[in-house]
Amino acid sequence: MIIKKSNRLVLGNWKMHGSILENTILLSKLRNVDHSLHCDFGILAPFPYLSQVLTILHGTKICWGAQNISMYNFGAYTGEVSAAMLKEFGCSLVLVGHSERRILYKETNLDIAGKASAALSLDITPVVCFGETLDEYNSKKTFSVIESQVSSILELGGKSVSRMIFSYEPVWAIGSGSAASPEYAQDIHAFIRGMLHQVGADSIRILYGGSVKASNAASFFVMPDIDGALVGNASLVTDDFLGITKL
Ligand code: PGA
Repeated sequence: MIIKKSNRLVLGNWKMHGSILENTILLSKLRNVDHSLHCDFGILAPFPYLSQVLTILHGTKICWGAQNISMYNFGAYTGEVSAAMLKEFGCSLVLVGHSERRILYKETNLDIAGKASAALSLDITPVVCFGETLDEYNSKKTFSVIESQVSSILELGGKSVSRMIFSYEPVWAIGSGSAASPEYAQDIHAFIRGMLHQVGADSIRILYGGSVKASNAASFFVMPDIDGALVGNASLVTDDFLGITKL
């Protein structure tokens, strides 16, 4: 479980990776270092492994969640997974609006707001992702893209937004091996923080994601508006992931 809102938060997004055997090794190592973690810490696993994650991490301070959620509570929605189902597997978090969902599965701002609401309705914290593509970055549209993505979530109201976590992930940095510069990320985070201020949700955590590794994470963590990291590739290698949590 997440302990204090003010602590740094590091989340591992496994994406569509893992197997029962690999997960057992990784999760058991995480479980063993639970007591020496320097930050709030969690993983976001594929749906079929949530039961395994619950079994191994139950009773630790490590939190976990899924990478997607239905905007509906129940019904004839083949292939979807509801908030209540995630809750049964101990999920306290869920990723919403990751760029891979926005781009590959055409999720809209409206879908993403619906999913965030569904999560909140069962007290699951949505980790809502925002970020510009390379084309948008090159054509200097970053701020307008972020503004429209964030605005659609802010329409849910300050009270709801205060219960969320945001993550800024420039699409061009994800999986590329080269992260945005910490100064660039800080500028965007400050911009998002300004928007959050307008709805009275000043204190929520804003993570940075996009090629974060043990060797560059500290340079993000010193930035005033960067409250932690959303980590993809490096979260699959235990020592790399733990390296980030020890900073
Ligand atoms: P990456 O992925 O760390 O592999 O760049 C981050 C993410 O997509 O959440």
